[in-house]
Amino acid sequence: MEILNAITVRRARRAIAPKVLPDEVVNRLFEAAVLAPSCANAQPWRFFAVRSPEKLAAVRPALTEGNKWGTVAPLLVVVTTKPSLDARLEEGRDYALFDTGMATMNLMLQATAEGLYAHPIAGFNPKKVREALGLEPDLVIVTLVIVGYPGGEELLNDFQKASEKSDRTRKPLGEVVGFM
Ligand SMILES: Cc1cc2nc3c(=O)[nH]c(=O)nc-3n(C[C@H](O)[C@H](O)[C@H](O)COP(=O)(O)O)c2cc1C
Repeated sequence: MEILNAITVRRARRAIAPKVLPDEVVNRLFEAAVLAPSCANAQPWRFFAVRSPEKLAAVRPALTEGNKWGTVAPLLVVVTTKPSLDARLEEGRDYALFDTGMATMNLMLQATAEGLYAHPIAGFNPKKVREALGLEPDLVIVTLVIVGYPGGEELLNDFQKASEKSDRTRKPLGEVVGFM
């Protein structure tokens, strides 16, 4: 089973095409997401797939200026969880965000395998997203994943254009892994 290639190919790219995604492709993203493991199998993730022109138009203004490139995407995945869905263990081990992150990575890897970009962002106004979609007040809006096929660079600034071609930057393993 080859997995490192998909992990390597996945990048947080921004040059996204407005092209609409087929239903079956979108469904596979969520099938992959919900296969993630979760503490006590609590499955604390709640995703909202924003695809209709009306809802997309309502959510787009919540993106920061720096994330304007995301406003053409045909799919915005609003990734949420809430404390009441959490499997909480002693010593601060709250697992909802951890589990939700794993499910989100599954979704992003499946998107990569489908030839899509799937770029998570924190640069959005959560109050505006909540209002636009009528989300419950106790849902924590963790990230929006901007999803779409590769497209043009019209909405990218100079830094973002350069970043489309840049190599990865990662800390050396010795700094982040204790080999014991
Ligand atoms: C939780 C989270 C929030 C992020 N927020 C933004 C964002 O608001 N705008 C943006 O352009 N990229 C954002 N990114 C993308 C990161 O900058 C990117 O993943 C990182 O630079 C590593 O690059 P790579 O994903 O291509 O390996 C975010 C990534 C994560 C995981």
